[in-house]
Formats: sequence, structure tokens, C-alpha cells
Amino acid sequence: MIDRQQGDTGVIRGPVLERFRRLILEWFDSSHRELPWRSDPTLYRVWISEIMLQQTQVATVVDYFERFMRKFPDVRRLAAADESEVLRAWEGLGYYRRAKQLHAAARQIVTEHGGRFPQSFDEVRALPGIGRYTAGAILSIGAAQSHPILEGNTIRLFARLLNFRDDVTTSASLRRLWEFAETLPGNERPGDVNQALMELGSLICQPGPPRCLLCPVSEFCKAYQQGNPESLPNKGHRTTRYETLHQAAIVVARRGRVVLRRCPPGEHWAGLWDFPRFSIGEMAGEPTSLTALQRELRLATGLDARLVPAPLATIRHSVTRFRIRLDCFLGESVTGRLRRKPDWLEWVSPDELEDRPMSVTGRKIARALFSE
Ligand code: ADE
Repeated sequence: MIDRQQGDTGVIRGPVLERFRRLILEWFDSSHRELPWRSDPTLYRVWISEIMLQQTQVATVVDYFERFMRKFPDVRRLAAADESEVLRAWEGLGYYRRAKQLHAAARQIVTEHGGRFPQSFDEVRALPGIGRYTAGAILSIGAAQSHPILEGNTIRLFARLLNFRDDVTTSASLRRLWEFAETLPGNERPGDVNQALMELGSLICQPGPPRCLLCPVSEFCKAYQQGNPESLPNKGHRTTRYETLHQAAIVVARRGRVVLRRCPPGEHWAGLWDFPRFSIGEMAGEPTSLTALQRELRLATGLDARLVPAPLATIRHSVTRFRIRLDCFLGESVTGRLRRKPDWLEWVSPDELEDRPMSVTGRKIARALFSE
């Protein structure tokens, strides 16, 4: 148990800690997944992988990582690209702020560090999009420096090892878990210890019922000894409230081109292209009013179009806590002049669509229309 009076964050230290590290490294050496960034863990490659892995499953990241490396093999190539090329390479991974910050950080590395990824913790943390966890992961894995890490997998693992029953979402709990994390990496193979901890959290000490019989460190695990690892971590009372949104997208087509809108800053898909899209939430449950949609289209784009009543498609999509139902309508017999402001609106040919970074649903519509 954690002895709060003495400010003790955990029971593992001294020779017990040495044994813990040895067991976890032996397990990692024999059981880790072969992942592309692990075969050549340069700072650049580890950085890109760690940013991609934030909020995204390893299985999804692998292909994106390999494509990204072919397109942007080093910091200079990334810094020299246009933001829209970087967003195009990121398309479908979600959380696009990560891609924008990655690009901004690459430019900062070129201007402030001569194109070489910095190796001091403070300099790494000063880069856009890099917090304490990511800086520690990059420098421990890519430069064998001893820094702790704490992220989703390790929060779960540590909470169970320590039988830490407090709400792990509070800053006081996170401070304690960081203190525990600080004791672990050591100086031998800090990057591998950190990767082993995350890998163990991901493959063995997984969410839901953990696979304790396969765990190399169950002898240290307080929750295992008490028979209740599944009840941890305690994430407080936060429950995700899902919200259903009903939207309509309009494919406005004239002379072989369609209208695209670039999502402005502040929107979920800021910087990505989408078909003009309107909320019809107020009409949920009722048949979509085409007249109301036509009016919205005119206000937003300056164009009048006849909407074909039967939707081209209905797409269901989830982003963060939103469940979106998107009805896609074709707008034809278009008249008027496309308004360029305040949003970015453009007539785009099917060929050009391929190079534009698009929202997930925008891409689905484009593929359905032009079987790209
Ligand atoms: N999740 C985030 N980074 C990871 C890594 N380097 N290894 C395993 N899982 C991870």
C-alpha cells in the first residue's frame, strides 16, 4: 500500500526494483511487437511515432508512419513541405492539431537547432505539441536518456501495481504517479524500460480484465494480490456523454467541378477541406427540409442550386463525443457566383480532390462520387 504519511509513492526500490527492471526487460526482449520505428529509433522517427500514437491505436499508426517516412524522411523535408501536404499525409488519423504542431515544430527545429533534433529535455519540451510524456519518451527511446513517462497504458499499469485507488484524473493523483514513474527507467536501458512498461500496459495489463497469468511482474502487483486489478484505474465519475448530430452535406456540381470549403480555424477539421455542410439538428426526426437547406446554401456560398430530393448517401461517423448522421445531397442547375469570404470556398475538379487534405466524411463522399 502507498504510505501517504511518509510521502512514499510505491513499494518498489533497491534490489526489488532491480529485479522488476530485469523481469520487465526480459519480457520485452522476448515479447515486444515489431514496429517500424523500433527497428531504427532515431529521434526524428521516435518523435513522429510518438505524436501519431497519441490518441491512436498502434495498428492504425503503422501504415501511416511508413507512408509519412517515405514522404518526409527527415526534419528538413518535413519543414520544407506545405502544411496542406502534411495534413494530407495525416488525413484519417484524426486530431489534426497534432499534424499542424508537428509541422510547426519541424520548422522550429530548422530555424533554432540547425535542422538537428534537440537533445536537451527543456529544448524538446519547448517544441509545439510536446509535453512531459512525449519529451521523456523521445529522449529515452531515441537518445537513451533516463526520463520517466506516464500515459494511458502506464497510468493503468501503475494504478494496478500500486493498488492506487484514488481518482487518477486529478492533478494530485497524476503527481503521485509521476513520482512513481520517476523511479523506474534507471540508467541501463531507460528507453527499453519505458517501452516495456507501455507494451505491458497495452498487451497484458490491458483495459478490462488484465492477463495477469502472463504478466512478468505480477509478483509485485498489489491489485493482483488483492484480486481486484480490473477495478482499476479509478477514472472518477466522468462518463462520456455522446451527442447525436444530424447534418447535411451538399455536393454542388457545375461543369464537372464541385464546391469545396476549407474548414476555418476553430472547427473540428480546421485546415481540411469538406463539402459545404449544414446542421439540421433542429429538424431531427423530421424529413430534411430541402428549401431550408437551399437557403442555407445560398447564405453560405452565394449559389442557388436545385437539390435532388433523394440523398446520394447517408454517412454515419463518430468524432470525439459526437455521433454524426450526415445526409449528402446533390445540388444541380447551379446559378450565382461563388462567394470566397469569409470561408475559403473553391470550385475543384475531381483530379484536384486527390491532393487536398479532406475531412473523413468529405473523403468518403468524394470516393463515393468519383470512386477515387
Ligand atoms: N504507446 C505510445 N508510445 C508507445 C511505445 N513507444 N511503445 C508502445 N506503446 C506506445
